[in-house]
Amino acid sequence: MRAVILVGGKATRLLPLTVNIPKAIIPVLNTPFLEHVIRHLSRHRIKDIILAQGHLAQPIQGYLGDGRQFGVKLSYVVEDTPRGTAGAVKNAASYLDDTFLVLNGDVFTDLDITAMIDFHRERKAKATIALAVVDDPTAYGLIKTDAEGRVSRFLEKPGREEVLQRRTNMINAGTYILEPDVLALIPPQQEVSIERETFQQLLARGEAMYAYSSPAYWLDMGTPEKYLQLHRDLLSGKCRHYGLNPGKGVLLGEHTDIHPTTQIKGPVIIGNNCSIGRRVQLIGPVVIGDGSTILEDSVIEDSVIWRNARLGPRVTLKNSIVADNCCLNESSSCLGSVLGDNVAVLSGCKLEPGSKIWPGEAVG
Ligand code: GTP
Repeated sequence: MRAVILVGGKATRLLPLTVNIPKAIIPVLNTPFLEHVIRHLSRHRIKDIILAQGHLAQPIQGYLGDGRQFGVKLSYVVEDTPRGTAGAVKNAASYLDDTFLVLNGDVFTDLDITAMIDFHRERKAKATIALAVVDDPTAYGLIKTDAEGRVSRFLEKPGREEVLQRRTNMINAGTYILEPDVLALIPPQQEVSIERETFQQLLARGEAMYAYSSPAYWLDMGTPEKYLQLHRDLLSGKCRHYGLNPGKGVLLGEHTDIHPTTQIKGPVIIGNNCSIGRRVQLIGPVVIGDGSTILEDSVIEDSVIWRNARLGPRVTLKNSIVADNCCLNESSSCLGSVLGDNVAVLSGCKLEPGSKIWPGEAVG
């Protein structure tokens, strides 16, 4: 079976992290996000994958190439203007002549795709939508089903009252199995939403559309808060994670030096060629990217640092994300902040929660 991954969105909610690279390849546990998704598909024997691109197509192609290094075959289709979630699938129609899978390119899940395919086939469904359980479904699309799991209604971004009334927290998880004739419903060369238009059409036509629920881990990492949450979840072993889960320990890269006085609490991943100085405190979950240096007496807590950062001495970083090549100088602190690439935080500067610093800026 082939899979289409939607990776052409603008990722505005993750700015300023996504100024230079698309959401699909921002690092998660020091590995580009899509690599996790591709390996997950590959485990379910899906090895022919089409990436539906738009905004910032080149960095993804440059990194993933033809997919050989991941044991899959990758093809690319690039939109000249944004086509929306259904228009992007239509754009890949020349590859889709049999039952196929569609995935939002920002969802981390350990969904049992093989079981979902069996479910789809047993019911001879036209479309099957994976469901996910979330604490607060009001920001998502809710799906109502009958006792057999057949979709009876969609509710986009329902109010709290409505959620309570309907007693459901099952949302559209952004993973679908579709039959190729669904493509005929999507007009070509247009922006079309699969959630709001195509699925509604299928429902109106009385087509067999099913919802597949499972206890799988699920998180869309579309905002800085969720990106940090994803790291917390993965590092605490909430997701059946494939090969990288360090549990509650420390995972060290190659050629990385940690001073014997460094204190480490909770799960921590440190990449290759890093240096961690005297009396540094790393309070997990913490992920530090390749080539980064943390100088003495700095405290890093619940944060993700990308590559080639230089922090310290006496820097405090908490609940924050630091993109590539940033420099946080002596005695500066960042709480709940998001720093784009190549940001310099000058000595003594204190960034308040909610700060977002654009690439290349120097803040004092
Ligand atoms: P925000 O701007 O922060 O809402 O992010 P986004 O642009 O990624 O939108 P959203 O999170 O709703 O998108 C869900 C998935 O669909 C992501 O993987 C996007 O890359 C993808 N996507 C959204 N719109 C398009 C589109 O027009 N074309 C393609 N190819 N993919 C899209």
